[in-house]
Formats: sequence, C-alpha cells, structure tokens
Amino acid sequence: MLKIAHRGAKGYEPENTLKSFQKALDLSADGIELDVHLSSDGHIIVIHDETIDRTTNGKGLVNSFSLAELQTFLIDGEYQIPTLNEVFDLVNKKCLINIELKGLGTADKVVALIEEYIADKNWNYGHFIVSSFEWNMLQETSNLNSNIAIGVLTEEDIDKALAFAELIQAEAINPDYQLLNAENVKQIQEKGFLVLPWTVDKEEDIQRIKSYNVDGIISDFPDRL
Ligand code: G3P
Ligand code: CA
Repeated sequence: MLKIAHRGAKGYEPENTLKSFQKALDLSADGIELDVHLSSDGHIIVIHDETIDRTTNGKGLVNSFSLAELQTFLIDGEYQIPTLNEVFDLVNKKCLINIELKGLGTADKVVALIEEYIADKNWNYGHFIVSSFEWNMLQETSNLNSNIAIGVLTEEDIDKALAFAELIQAEAINPDYQLLNAENVKQIQEKGFLVLPWTVDKEEDIQRIKSYNVDGIISDFPDRL
C-alpha cells in the first residue's frame, strides 16, 4: 500500500514547501501529493489555494503575479513558494509525485514538464500521477499524452468517477475516504483501477480504510500509515 504525503508531510511542516516535501522523503513516503496553479508568466507554481492569502505574507491571486513577484512572499516567514521544477529536482526520482491540477491552464504545462524530465533526466511515467477535481483538465492531459497515469478525484460520487475513469482509461480513483466501504473499493479494483483515498489522518480512520485493502492512502502524516 502506497504511503502518500499530502501537500508534503503537511502534519509536520508548512504545506507545499520544499521543507514539507523533504520531510516526506525523510519519513520514507512512497509518494508526495501537491497542488499546482500558474503564475502570470506561465510558470507552474506549487500552492493549494488560488490566492496566496492563507499560506503566505502576501495577498492576491497566484495568477496575477509573475514568478519573480511570487518569490518575494514567504510562507511562515521562511519559505518561498516552490515551482514544480524545484520539487521535481528535490525529489529526484526518490518517490512518486501526485500532481493535482488546480489552476486553469496547468494541464498542458504539466504534461510538457513531465515529458521533459522523462526525455532529458531519465525519469519514467511510473514517477508521476496527475489528478484533478476538474475532469476536463484530466481529459486534456490524457489527450495530450495517454501514457501519463491519471487519478480521478471525487468528493461526491464514486459511480460517476468510475464512469469517467473508464472513459479516459485512468489509472486510479482518488476519492474522499468518507465515500469508501469494503464493497465499493472491491468494485473499483475489479474494474482495474487503483483506489487512492484522501486525506486520512486519524489512527482509527487509517485502520478502517486499510482494512478495505486500498492501494494507497494520502495523509498529512505518512508515517502513521
Ligand atoms: O489529492 C487529494 C486532496 O489533496 C484533495 O483535496 O483540498 O487537499 O487539494 P485538497
Ligand atoms: Ca490536493
């Protein structure tokens, strides 16, 4: 079962920072999950919200700032907002990277970056999974490069997610863990998809979800898995 660190090891370090991704590696996570938006000059920025308000000392939409401007803001007074390239270079093939597409226009940029690392830096498709709640962006990803593994995120309807996963030949369903039971996990797996629920942090929930034999769990505390 894959132990995947949510926004890095968010339970221990500020989310979506190089520090949190390094912590995930230190905890021997099998993978990290992160969120991406675009800067105004087209760089892939690793940040959860569409604004910088909650996590940095600045205010405003991520896509209203250039990369150079975004790098002037600090998270917890210390850390810069990383680019996806910086996270790839830190991870350096040591674990799986689950890239969640949040911002508009991220699909083609992320596909291009994955292709660059595979072509030039000896990475392979097994190092990546691209997920999103915005299924049109997953369709776009799959159209651009059908070799990239896709995780269909859902917080409401497993059946709809399954139908879409079949349509685009996804690799995984990534559901809110509260949607799962032993039967639907089996049903998803029998159709050939991995089950990668989020965000499972409490010990009792971890034990219950593990008892369904899921393929991986996304957690703020990957060491608890
Ligand atoms: O990828 C799973 C999970 O991260 C989705 O929710 O809000 O944490 O991005 P959120
Ligand atoms: Ca996410």
